[in-house]
Amino acid sequence: MIGKQKVCFTRNVITRNNYFKKNLQKYHTYFDQVLVLGVGLDTKFDELDILVDKPIFALDIQGEHIRDIYQKAGLTSQVHIIDADFNQIEQEAIQDTFIKEGLDIQLRTILVWEGGTFYLTPADIFSLLSLVNKTLNVVGLWEIFLTKSSFQMKRTRIIK
Ligand SMILES: C[S@@+](CC[C@H](N)C(=O)[O-])C[C@H]1O[C@@H](n2cnc3c(N)ncnc32)[C@H](O)[C@@H]1O
Repeated sequence: MIGKQKVCFTRNVITRNNYFKKNLQKYHTYFDQVLVLGVGLDTKFDELDILVDKPIFALDIQGEHIRDIYQKAGLTSQVHIIDADFNQIEQEAIQDTFIKEGLDIQLRTILVWEGGTFYLTPADIFSLLSLVNKTLNVVGLWEIFLTKSSFQMKRTRIIK
């Protein structure tokens, strides 16, 4: 049972990765800048030719560790990671932070949130998205919407 769940989970990750890649390729003329929420070690933003000339930014609570892993592996990434905790982002600071880090608040920006909403409550997810939407010129959002409670309930059942 656990083995089957693992296979299912792996396929799920591959499928969702393909879905996001295809969207980025298909709609690349509709956006000029990408903001990834929780990038982790996702490499797709360095793989796609259509993103080569577009600024790619990411917010991640583990930004320092991610940069450290790339550095130790001798790899470079075109993703500019901004250290941020989604639960601590404040309205007054967000615009200054984005501008200081090089985000262009006028550029048409696509938001990508893959495999990360389940760390937050639904209210916090909407509050973060609303804040980003007010600050940037957001033209779209692609996300896998799983809430904290739904994800944790399933995992508890498998372990038992
Ligand atoms: C499961 S990983 C997914 C990474 C990537 N999107 C992918 O699909 O491969 C979730 C990412 O969200 C980040 N994250 C989790 N909680 C966060 C928070 N409160 N604020 C910012 N980033 C967070 C983690 O550090 C991690 O990089």
